[in-house]
Amino acid sequence: MQRKQTIVSPSLLSADFLHLQDSVEMINQSDADWLHIDVMDGVFVPNLSFGFPILEAIRPVVKKPLDVHLMVVNPMDYLDRLAALQTEVMTIHYEVSQHLHRSMTAIRAKGVKAGVSLNPHTPVSMLEDVLEVCDVVLLMSVNPGFGGQSFIKRTLHKVETLRAMIDRQGLNTLIEVDGGVNEATGQALVNAGAGALVAGSYVFKHRSPQEAIRILKHRE
Ligand code: DX5
Ligand code: ZN
Repeated sequence: MQRKQTIVSPSLLSADFLHLQDSVEMINQSDADWLHIDVMDGVFVPNLSFGFPILEAIRPVVKKPLDVHLMVVNPMDYLDRLAALQTEVMTIHYEVSQHLHRSMTAIRAKGVKAGVSLNPHTPVSMLEDVLEVCDVVLLMSVNPGFGGQSFIKRTLHKVETLRAMIDRQGLNTLIEVDGGVNEATGQALVNAGAGALVAGSYVFKHRSPQEAIRILKHRE
């Protein structure tokens, strides 16, 4: 049977912050494709996580491409510093973007993949006219700000609608989904057309985090 591969991006938000290096090294040695970094400002979302001091400290030991999800009101202020850290994907939120086309173009101009994230209440149709400048669309399947929340089922419908929109325009935009991803929701998301899965608590609470990553990555 043919095995379909999915990009898996474990979220460091659910790691043990007392032993961050151990978590990074576990991910380095796993089948994970990216390392998902959740940056929060306490304004766009009702929580704080970590910022550049932590990101710069772990950078030398991270061997996976960085997938940075900015849950902040002024994400473009961080483009230069993220580009300097050789960030693979920089994702900003639709809900804080006045000039999304300009922002996506500016991110790409720095050699970084441009990602846009939609909160659960934002319809995918809002991206119809900017999709061609988006490398990644990160659909939130929980309200952003915290790990360990339950998956909002309506996201499956959003993935299908977005998949059709991307295919209709003949684009390669990657659909990534973030929040409440586990073996069951991960399978349903891939079936609906997602190409990348973020997973925090499912990976880090699993008896074998590397096995959890393998399960998400290799689907039948
Ligand atoms: C939530 C973050 C997620 C979070 C996902 O705001 O964007 O990346 O780490 O955590 P789980 O997989 O536990 O829902
Ligand atoms: Zn995230």
